[in-house]
Amino acid sequence: MNGNQSIAVVGATGAVGREMLDILAAEGVEAGRVRAFASSRSAGQRLGYGSGEVTVEAFGGESLDGIDIALFSAGSAISKQFGRSAAARGTVIIDNSSAFRMDADVPLVVPEINPAALDAVKSGGAVIANPNCSTIITLMAVTPIHRLLGVKRMIVSTYQAVSGAGAAAMEELRRQARQVLEGQEPTCEVFDQPCAFNVFSHNTTIGEDGYNVEETKMVKETHKIWGDASVRVTATCIRVPVFRAHCASINLTLAQPVRDLDAVREAIDAFAGAKVLDDRAANRFPTPLEASGKDDVLVGRLRLDPSQTDEQGRCWGLNLFASGDQLRKGAALNAVQIANLLGEHAAV
Ligand SMILES: NC(=O)c1ccc[n+]([C@@H]2O[C@H](COP(=O)([O-])OP(=O)(O)OC[C@H]3O[C@@H](n4cnc5c(N)ncnc54)[C@H](OP(=O)(O)O)[C@@H]3O)[C@@H](O)[C@H]2O)c1
Repeated sequence: MNGNQSIAVVGATGAVGREMLDILAAEGVEAGRVRAFASSRSAGQRLGYGSGEVTVEAFGGESLDGIDIALFSAGSAISKQFGRSAAARGTVIIDNSSAFRMDADVPLVVPEINPAALDAVKSGGAVIANPNCSTIITLMAVTPIHRLLGVKRMIVSTYQAVSGAGAAAMEELRRQARQVLEGQEPTCEVFDQPCAFNVFSHNTTIGEDGYNVEETKMVKETHKIWGDASVRVTATCIRVPVFRAHCASINLTLAQPVRDLDAVREAIDAFAGAKVLDDRAANRFPTPLEASGKDDVLVGRLRLDPSQTDEQGRCWGLNLFASGDQLRKGAALNAVQIANLLGEHAAV
């Protein structure tokens, strides 16, 4: 993104879209360069933008004419309907949905991890995909360890905030919490079971292999982002009654034995966008409340896994726990970072 490009936020009234507006305003992008789009239901609504406001416009086929960069967060159907045609007319689409992530011609990018994937983007239109939010949070914690010791296998269990399912899901948690505390039956509109005071398997479709779509994304997207399909990955994805910030408990099998946990901590702290929070004495580790609203993914509970110690006493396994704000680094921030990186490459 450079100083005079026009930027559209498609899905501006949503959980991710509002965060995008906040980040653009905080980066000093003038309101006059930003257009906010949503469904016709929201047309005319005014959204806060820094100390000012932007007015929401109904999104349609010609909305992106003359727009340099469009940040899409209005769901896969809208991305599929409008993304590629807008790219063909010269707009760079940075898409938060899963519509294009596994397409061979679409870079799937976390700027701190695989910025070189953007080298293929030349001037003119393009589609770039933002990875799945849990995958971003997990890989921000694990990539520094992968670079230090090599990850051969990764077992991930997620604890995912309801906002991963959008603004309406946050409202559902608020409403249900009130209902339960007032002794009423919680009513379900977004999820098919209560999210307040409950924990349940991720609300995406389950395939014939028994894995839900979120779990499958973690496997496939890790391979694409790391450019290595030989890493073994398996995941269990769970919703928890938290407003924002996803957590992941991660068990690794490494290519080299772990000799020094402090070296692992140093590698994580040296990695832009990740921060160690691993205070055993104070029992202070990553939490969603601590991660909410922050750009860094917090990483802690770093421990050797004694079940992976060999006869020579070498330990090949590591446990850790991460938490990151999936509305920011898992979505809006990552998309704006991609736009900024494109500006640095002067590709667009
Ligand atoms: N939430 C997350 O943590 C997260 C993380 C990564 C990726 N994503 C992805 O980002 C996308 C948006 O997620 P979200 O959580 O922000 O959802 P959300 O809160 O439900 O917001 C959806 C947005 O899409 C807009 N929209 C709906 N129909 C539209 C239409 N026909 N034309 C134009 N805009 C339309 C909505 O506008 P109205 O207000 O007018 O209905 C709203 O602005 C999804 O693809 C999601 O998978 C979300």
